Formats: sequence, C-alpha cells, structure tokens
Amino acid sequence: MTRKRVLSGIQPTADSFHLGNYLGAVKQWVELQEDHDVFFFIADLHALTIETDPAILRRRTLVSVAQLLAAGLDPHQCTLFLQSHISQHNQLGWIMECQTGFGEASRMTQFKDKSQKSGTDRTAVGLFTYPMLQAADILLYQADRVPVGEDQRQHIELTRDLAGRFNSRYGQTFQVPEPHILKSGAKINDLQNPTAKMSKSADSMQGVIEIMDTPESNAKKIKSSMTDAGREVRFDQVEKPGISNLMTIHSALTGNTISQIETEFESKGYGDFKGAVAEIVVEYLRPIRAKALALLEDEASLIKILHSGADKARVVANATLAKTYENLGLVP
Ligand code: TYM
Repeated sequence: MTRKRVLSGIQPTADSFHLGNYLGAVKQWVELQEDHDVFFFIADLHALTIETDPAILRRRTLVSVAQLLAAGLDPHQCTLFLQSHISQHNQLGWIMECQTGFGEASRMTQFKDKSQKSGTDRTAVGLFTYPMLQAADILLYQADRVPVGEDQRQHIELTRDLAGRFNSRYGQTFQVPEPHILKSGAKINDLQNPTAKMSKSADSMQGVIEIMDTPESNAKKIKSSMTDAGREVRFDQVEKPGISNLMTIHSALTGNTISQIETEFESKGYGDFKGAVAEIVVEYLRPIRAKALALLEDEASLIKILHSGADKARVVANATLAKTYENLGLVP
C-alpha cells in the first residue's frame, strides 16, 4: 500500500516556537513521519507579510529548522525545506489567487483580525493573499492530510474549496486535502489569558511557553499562570479555563487522561498542580532546547539539510505545476 502524503508548514516569525506550535503541530509531524510520506517546510515567504529585519529573519529561519530537528524530525524520513527555495510556490500561488473570489478572501478571519488590529494602510496586500499562497503550498505536493492547529482550519477549508473548484473547471489536477486536527491540544491557550490562544505575536510573553526559553523562566511562567476561582483541579473550560488549559498541556505531554489527572490531584490544590505541570513541561522541553542550541553551532549542516530537502521537494512541485499549466491551456 502506498503511504499517505502529509504536508505542513510553520512560520519563522519568532525566536522560538511556543508550546502551542509544538502540541498543535510539530509533535504530530514527528509522529506522522513514521508511517507517512511527509513534507514539512518553514514558511519564510509567509513571514514577509509582516515587516522583517533581514538579520532577524535569517536567524529565526535557522532557529526554526534547529527546533524541528531537535523535536525529532529526521531528515532521512521526511522532506524538510524552505518555502523560498521552491519557486513553484509563488507560481501556483498566482494561479490560486486567480481562482479565489475577492469576497471569499475578505472573509478569512485571520486576515480580518490582523488587518483590523493594524489598520488597512499598515496591512500588506500579501496578508490578504496569504491563504492563496498557503493553498499553493499544500496543493503542489498533492497532500492527503495537513496536520495543523485549530487556528488553521479555515485556511485548509479554503484550500479544499480551491482544489475542488480547479478540478471541476480544468480537470483532475489536485488531491483535495483533509485537515488533521487533534481533538485535544489543537488549541493551547495563553497562560495569563486562558481564553485566547497562545501566540507568537502576543502583547506579553508572560503567558507564552517558548521552547528556546530557559527552564527557570518557563517554570516561573507556569507557576504564576492565571488562577481560576475555586481550588479544585477539575476540567471545566468555562469555569476554570486556566486550570483546564494546564490539564490539556499535562495530558498531551504525559499521555495521562484528564480523568487520571483529576484523580491524581483530587485532594491537592492549584499550587501543587502548577508545580507538577511546571516540572513536566520543563523536563520535556529541556533536551529539545539543548539539542537545538547544539545544532545551531553548525549552520552549514542545517543549510545542507535544507538544500537536500529542496531537491526532493522541487521534483514533486515541478510535476504538479507542469500539469496545472497544461490543464489551464498555457502553451508549453
Ligand atoms: P504558524 O506558524 O502560526 O503555526 C504553526 C503551527 O502551530 C499551530 N498553532 C497552535 N496549535 C495549538 N495551539 C496554539 N495556541 C497554536 N498556535 C499555533 C498552527 O495551527 C500551525 O499548525 N499559516 C500557517 C503556516 C503555513 C502552513 C502552510 C501550514 C503556511 N503554509 C501550509 C500548513 C500548510 C501558520 O501561520 O502557522
């Protein structure tokens, strides 16, 4: 049986990935590489939708690669590459823009939220066309499944619509991908504001657990996370969003079920529970951070991995783009 094709990407827009990125996406990637045909990339072109400093972008791109490898992606098992190394992403991106209605693009919630926050004059057109480039990222590789967090669901839905629309207009060209979104862990929330998702662009990093942060700082953030009313360790996202978020994190990292965690902390208070979660998170992230720092000592090797990933990715991307052009009637 042929293995299912999996593809996903992550933006290099921070000095570290956070625990939401890890639990919502990267942890799944590492698991899926065992028995799927997997393609993962750093979405460095998507990162250009916000103003970037060249030295910072370069550094963050390499830190991103180092973290993915440290988290367990194996370049022998997966194709790991940079989006900007494969020009077919931009080429298919244009075709996708031509398939998308202006109103349809205007309804994308990430665009609406971000453009409302910054105002239209300070919002790049690239932020508007962002989902069409993302559709191209996915469709170029004929991906069956796309492992992402809950916040990407609408982008995957648009990708499915565009693939279906293109196939019915121009003949079978693209695999229509399925989102692969976990029931638990797909939305990790901010520790200080536990009804909002943990985000690289949060106003304050106090509620954001970063893989590359020191163990001491991460432990402190968890121990001083927002406290809910009451004192019982019980999963209730309405009454106890802070504790429930920590329980989700505990469960995702230890594999214990929510009811096992409730039983374990039955006669204990929030303080004990937070201390235990801090320990679990810190010990889980410690070797990942250490490995990423070690990998960053040898940038040339990281770049070599990216080049060999790009060589494999380009073959697939090229074949899909050629077929797309042909089906559109572009003269070869
Ligand atoms: P990005 O870089 O914002 O996030 C990378 C992955 O992390 C997930 N994620 C979360 N999961 C759980 N809880 C959270 N608080 C949380 N925050 C982020 C995201 O859902 C994502 O899976 N547009 C994408 C990058 C992209 C892409 C693609 C993804 C570009 N092209 C093609 C898949 C396929 C993004 O900005 O992810």
